[in-house]
Amino acid sequence: MKSRVLNMLIQSTSYLSGSAIARELAVSRAAVWKHIKSLKEEGYEIESITSKGYKLINYKREFNKYELEILVRELHLDLSVYHFDTINSTNTYAKLLSDNGALVVADEQTNGRGRLGRKWSSKKGDGLYFSLMFRPELPPHSVGMLTQLAAISLREALSENALIKWPNDIFISDKKIAGILAELITEIDVVEKVIIGIGINLNKVEEFKETATSIAQEHIEFDTLAFFNTFLQSFFKLFETFNETRSLSFVKEKIEKHSYFMNKEVYKVGSTSRYIFRGVTDKGNAILEDRVGKLEEIFFGELSLKKAVK
Ligand code: BTN
Repeated sequence: MKSRVLNMLIQSTSYLSGSAIARELAVSRAAVWKHIKSLKEEGYEIESITSKGYKLINYKREFNKYELEILVRELHLDLSVYHFDTINSTNTYAKLLSDNGALVVADEQTNGRGRLGRKWSSKKGDGLYFSLMFRPELPPHSVGMLTQLAAISLREALSENALIKWPNDIFISDKKIAGILAELITEIDVVEKVIIGIGINLNKVEEFKETATSIAQEHIEFDTLAFFNTFLQSFFKLFETFNETRSLSFVKEKIEKHSYFMNKEVYKVGSTSRYIFRGVTDKGNAILEDRVGKLEEIFFGELSLKKAVK
């Protein structure tokens, strides 16, 4: 409700009376006053003049839960917004929610998780950590395709120079800048919830400097709200088409155009057999060509440009 009061103040160019806000939001004037007081305490400059009402001054849009709620409403998405200073893992939290959909953001995670059982270092200030939870009516095997859609949207929201490292890492300058961990809660053979967890490196992390880069190191202009705006719009637009077709054929070209591996020599992690990465299938599987020109599809795992050392 507080974000709706704030939104009315943002939208209004003149003073808004307490009773006008109360009427519009179907709450009491006392409730409006309480929200205004709390917004003021949080640092919003709200001028109040007895006969005129309230006006927001010196307003600069910046990232916080209310602004994110406003954005989600503007985009007509059915997502509840949660924002934590610190949490164990946004994915773990999102898994337990009963909302139709949710966006869980944290400044820090104490137990951030990566793919293949790895840890995801999640200190405050180092990254942006969030999970998108929603309930698509899909069979469980479609989750790999959803993560590819998330990778396309993530790339779009981050930088023109970003590439998708199959299946769903985002690379810039040959180093990882963001990763996706998609998880499922299923009921027999339908999906109950999908949780798409995303970690973006915002600042340089000394520990991973050989393999990771960051928004700061790449001098990318980054505004968290603008990022969510692009990411959410793009993802749900792609999802709409995907939901009708249940295929990635409509984005196959895009995935291949921005693929980190396209037509390069790759190795399955831990293996010394060389392949050429020839693109992705309509299901999002990687197409690998072996030394004798035979094509093989893989749907899971990790690829590398480096050969395993035996
Ligand atoms: C990977 O590349 O291994 C995937 C990393 C995913 C990390 C994000 S951070 C937000 C969300 N919560 C988690 O615990 N993990 C994901």
